[in-house]
Amino acid sequence: MDSAKYLASLGRGVAIIGSQWGDEGKGKLVDILASKYSTVARGTGGANAGHTIVVEGKKFVFHLLPSGILYKDNICIVGNGCVIDIETLLKEVQNLKDNNIEITNRLFVSDRAHVVFDFHKEIDGFQEDQKGDSKIGTTKRGIGPTYTDKISRSGIRIADLYNTEVLTSKLTSLLARNKKVYGFEANLDEYLVKYQSLAAEIKPFVTDTVALLHAKYNETNSAGVLFEGANATFLDIDHGTYPYVTSSNATVGGLLAGTGFPPTYMTNVIGIVKAYTTRVGAGPFVTELLDDLGEQIRAQGHEYGSTTGRPRRCGWFDAFVVKISSQINGFTELNLTKLDVLKGVGALKIATAYKLNGKNLSSLPMFDSEFENIEVEYIEMPGFDEDISNARSFEDLPLAAQNYVLKLEELVGVKIASIGVGPGRDQMIFR
Ligand code: GDP
Ligand code: IMO
Ligand code: MG
Repeated sequence: MDSAKYLASLGRGVAIIGSQWGDEGKGKLVDILASKYSTVARGTGGANAGHTIVVEGKKFVFHLLPSGILYKDNICIVGNGCVIDIETLLKEVQNLKDNNIEITNRLFVSDRAHVVFDFHKEIDGFQEDQKGDSKIGTTKRGIGPTYTDKISRSGIRIADLYNTEVLTSKLTSLLARNKKVYGFEANLDEYLVKYQSLAAEIKPFVTDTVALLHAKYNETNSAGVLFEGANATFLDIDHGTYPYVTSSNATVGGLLAGTGFPPTYMTNVIGIVKAYTTRVGAGPFVTELLDDLGEQIRAQGHEYGSTTGRPRRCGWFDAFVVKISSQINGFTELNLTKLDVLKGVGALKIATAYKLNGKNLSSLPMFDSEFENIEVEYIEMPGFDEDISNARSFEDLPLAAQNYVLKLEELVGVKIASIGVGPGRDQMIFR
């Protein structure tokens, strides 16, 4: 199937969701689908995300801006569920301008989204230091502390930045809290000057994005809306490997709440799955390869964090967890990514089940101590040595690669509708 046929098969509400521990390649598929969907929205996470797009050899990494922004007529929305580091946002805007990509009247930021302040990043670092040996390995982008303030109802929203009275009052109590709890000294006036000036810079982007989203969805000839998930299912605050997770709902439910789009409008929920598994930061990872093979996959897949540059931990594909991911998100199809990276790795192992004390599990364990005692059941498939980066149809793939894809599809129980064979926009096979 060619890409046009695939695009035509998609409905009017399409969500892109990371099905593992992040960095599955969400940005690349968003960029491809954004040729059809002229409205692209993010609704979760913040600058902890790093979404990479490669177009004609040129690489763009977006932390906050939706990956659909490269198409010059697209409307991009950063929704109410996101936490906004305004300086990062402005840097991304500047980078686009430097590349002659105009964003006037097409980038919009929710007035209800919460603001990440410098002190949130300081608290993030402080809390990690306090944890000693049980660090989460956060991106130190202030994500957890900002969502904490939001949930405890003391957060500052983008709209608050334009109301001096409200801003002064909220900042005064947060800075007092910071002094009392963390011993941080900060000058209120400096904060006011800095953030009111940043607020003035982003003023043209700020709007009620829920109203905008629905207006775009209802426009005559609108193809609908594309939703770009951030982070991933097992980093989700409820469904992930708690406490080694991020501080928001990275699953499809979070994306709906974070944009104000009703579940009944969502037609496709596309799970992005890497052909193996990676994870950045601490936390359980039972199929992790701590040997030369893990190193080989890291080198071949350039597995270094898009946000922090940290080496990503690498391991075998885990069909047990992706199946759970599919249950939670209701995947209608999968995009398998980075199949090309497995070239020359030898036989390919796939985790199919977890056993604890001799019993098969149906969900992830609760405790680190249980994860340590998991027995993982694997199957093994023949690997392939051919370069597949130029394959453009399923039949172009060597038989061993085809069989690996078919086996993953069977184990997860969801159709693999597209297969990534390289980072480039054109390096995708549609089935
Ligand atoms: P995201 O956070 O899910 O958007 O993923 P990242 O951008 O953090 O990491 C995915 C990396 O893999 C990026 O460097 C992409 O350019 C790259 N990538 C995406 N799909 C493929 C693929 O099919 N093959 C290869 N070799 N690289 C890919
Ligand atoms: P994308 O969208 C990979 C991980 C961090 C850390 C944990 C908590 O690019 O797939 P946080 O800073 O959110 O408090 O960190 O979550 N993490 C990610 N790992 N990709 C991401 O996003 C991630 N977002 C958060 O490494 O382990
Ligand atoms: Mg990433």
